[in-house]
Amino acid sequence: MKFFIDTANLAQIQEAQDLGILDGVTTNPSLIAREGIKGNVNIKQHYIDICNIVDGDVSAEVIATDFKGIIKEGEELAKLHPQIVVKVPMIKEGIKAVKYFYNKGIKTNCTLVFSASQALLAAKAGATYVSPFIGRLDDIGESGIDLVAQICHIYELHGFETQVLAASIRSQKHIIQCAAVGADVVTTPLAPILELLKHDLTDEGLAKFLEDHAKNNS
Ligand code: G3P
Repeated sequence: MKFFIDTANLAQIQEAQDLGILDGVTTNPSLIAREGIKGNVNIKQHYIDICNIVDGDVSAEVIATDFKGIIKEGEELAKLHPQIVVKVPMIKEGIKAVKYFYNKGIKTNCTLVFSASQALLAAKAGATYVSPFIGRLDDIGESGIDLVAQICHIYELHGFETQVLAASIRSQKHIIQCAAVGADVVTTPLAPILELLKHDLTDEGLAKFLEDHAKNNS
């Protein structure tokens, strides 16, 4: 399973990269806004800066919602760096654009996916990644992880190559649940990645080992 970090914060991306476990980055307009980056030139430079930190795919989202606009923006984004994946919203014009980009050999991430039917369409159109938002489904009393499992099952059954990229991850538990149901990728903020490291017994055990070592060598 690949680990992507879901942020536009360069320091956090670098921290995850330094851990040696990072396979890529996802961003969205809200995450870009959170970093205070404004204007097309600055935003594009920021995507390039991210690509220069990590080795893998970096999702950059289009703002346009009409076919021509999505194509224009997506082609500009794809030209920025070979690691850029064009992130396209799950709307009718978006699906047409995903197919267009597929035919051009441009990678896509179909985002804002909340149902298996939407995921099926994204795969049919040739999306490289599909992004079900699991935390936001949990927020409305549905099960995000059940949706990830259902999409994985359908893709496996029919041999779709689209990778299931579980997004809107809120906790270490979400990451483990995604791993258990066969998600190809999880994209998560830095905190849940760091939570994976933690166990009280590890901390207690290490403290005891160090204490005993100190005794032996005093
Ligand atoms: O990758 C999608 C993600 O950024 C949304 O997360 O926590 O805003 O639902 P969240």
